[in-house]
Amino acid sequence: MCGIVGYIGSKEKKSIILSGLKELEYRGYDSSGIATMSGEKIDCFKAVGKLSNLEEKTKNFTSDGFGVAIGHTRWATHGKPTEINAHPHLGEYSFVTHNGIIENYQEIKDELEKDGVNFLSQTDTEVIVHLFEKFNEELKDPFKAFEKTISKLVGSYAILIISKAAGDTIFFAKNAVPMIIGQDDNGEVFFSSSDAPLIGYVKDVVYLDDKMYGYAKKGVVEIYKNHKTIKPQKHALPTDRSYAQKEGFRFFMEKEIYEQSTVATETMMGRVKNGTIKFDEISPEIFDGIDEIVLCACGTSYHAALTASYLFERVAKIRTKVEIASEFRYKEPFLNKNSLFIVVSQSGETADTLEALKIAKDAGLKTLAICNVDNSSMVRLAGNVILTRAGIEKGVASTKAFTTQVMTLWMVVLYLANLRKILSNDELKNETKALLNLPKVLEVDPKLHEKIRRISKHYLHGHGFFFIGRDVFYPLALEGALKLKEISYLHAEGYASGEMKHGPIALVDEGLFTIALLPKNTLYEKTKSNVEEIAARDGFVLAISPLEFELSDDFIKTSEQEHFMSEFFEMMVVLQLFALEISIRLGNDVDMPRNLAKSVTVE
Ligand code: G6P
Repeated sequence: MCGIVGYIGSKEKKSIILSGLKELEYRGYDSSGIATMSGEKIDCFKAVGKLSNLEEKTKNFTSDGFGVAIGHTRWATHGKPTEINAHPHLGEYSFVTHNGIIENYQEIKDELEKDGVNFLSQTDTEVIVHLFEKFNEELKDPFKAFEKTISKLVGSYAILIISKAAGDTIFFAKNAVPMIIGQDDNGEVFFSSSDAPLIGYVKDVVYLDDKMYGYAKKGVVEIYKNHKTIKPQKHALPTDRSYAQKEGFRFFMEKEIYEQSTVATETMMGRVKNGTIKFDEISPEIFDGIDEIVLCACGTSYHAALTASYLFERVAKIRTKVEIASEFRYKEPFLNKNSLFIVVSQSGETADTLEALKIAKDAGLKTLAICNVDNSSMVRLAGNVILTRAGIEKGVASTKAFTTQVMTLWMVVLYLANLRKILSNDELKNETKALLNLPKVLEVDPKLHEKIRRISKHYLHGHGFFFIGRDVFYPLALEGALKLKEISYLHAEGYASGEMKHGPIALVDEGLFTIALLPKNTLYEKTKSNVEEIAARDGFVLAISPLEFELSDDFIKTSEQEHFMSEFFEMMVVLQLFALEISIRLGNDVDMPRNLAKSVTVE
């Protein structure tokens, strides 16, 4: 997830773009860039790392007088976070910035290369600017060329193009990622990925809908959809910047819970296609001779790994182990040369996981990092990498990163199962259908959120929580308990439902809360019996299930899903919101809980 800004007017363009990007830094910042154009004069600057690096690079540059400008802060999905891969991307006489993923970029790139176009970057974005220039040469009309360019793109995009072919204009298009346009009283035009950069410049804005595109000049904003002009509704801008950064949510964690549906789409883009799984970034050979998967991680990422272990064994029929990185390091592990060693990490910097990766690599094992941050230490070290594409995660308690980790690992499982012909075409199709349904499953229903907010008041006292589940709902129970303890500071444990009778049930009384995950598709009756044992001992039970459970004290009804992983993700959202609402009621700082850090780079 990246951020873009654009401006048409006579103010100092560099400052407007840089201050806009500053407001968008929360969207991701592995590199950034800016392009300004006044008449025939084009300037472009790019820098790797934080925005301050771009500020430093442009400190002696000014861009006075009327002109157009675009800027970008990037979170890498295709190509390393290098200067070359940073936006804006240059054609011969035009620049483009883009958020999202162009799914069919490889096809377009191949065709353009046949025409003799040279590509500088490894990004999907660069095809846009070359395609635009190609069509402009053909049509001799920059707007028609832009319209034709957009019609060729498959995927998600918020695009801004500036070009010497139309020096006073910005061309824009939006599909599946946000784009906002505002105009001030003098007709100056501002573009952004979210409200925050526009506050103070314009009073109201237009939130573009999917498939809208158009062009803007000073005093003119023309918006089209399906070749027809649109007169969209204007909305007043909020006035509070920090509120706007959180896009109206109270906390980044809440925003990130709501974002899961969108990032799920990004995670799958270009990877789940025509009933099968494809990864451009790995080659099938990494599985040659592999007879075991070893997953290694910490914290929430460990829970994602544990979830995946069930899928690897059940679906891909391969022996799978899961290791807590801090334990693995010192246990003198007996390593099997035929293992694929997979580290799972949001940050790619967690010291324990990084050290474990080094041990595996030194022992000659093939390695794969499932990571959210390109160019992180693990990404640089691992033999193979798949990025999870969650965008920057600000809340210390991980939510959307976990979702994309589980999804990515599930895709790896299916990739391997397909490679080894373990699944029939129909079975694989069924699995990919379930994957593609996840953006819908992950959408937060406001009624459900309100219900969780209301019942959260029942859980502020008592002496602790058990989260219980079976199969993949066991790691989910661990994750639910971790979320709650991280941000509410209440004592919570996750347990495999069947283990309760082997000790923990001794703690059950009316002051103990049990959060029971009762999916319909996985061992319902077995888990139900475990919960009945708790209810019989007067424990307070919150049942989360699509099926009514008469013995529960509170009940959250989930949907009837066909696939157990759909139930998994729906229940995951319930658990995240549950932890969030309890923490808010307790008056805690949800985004920065005490004693915790987002990335733990010490042992
Ligand atoms: C810290 C964070 C956790 C995270 C864990 C692993 O403890 O507070 O939320 O799950 O590190 O981080 P990683 O970046 O490796 O996924």
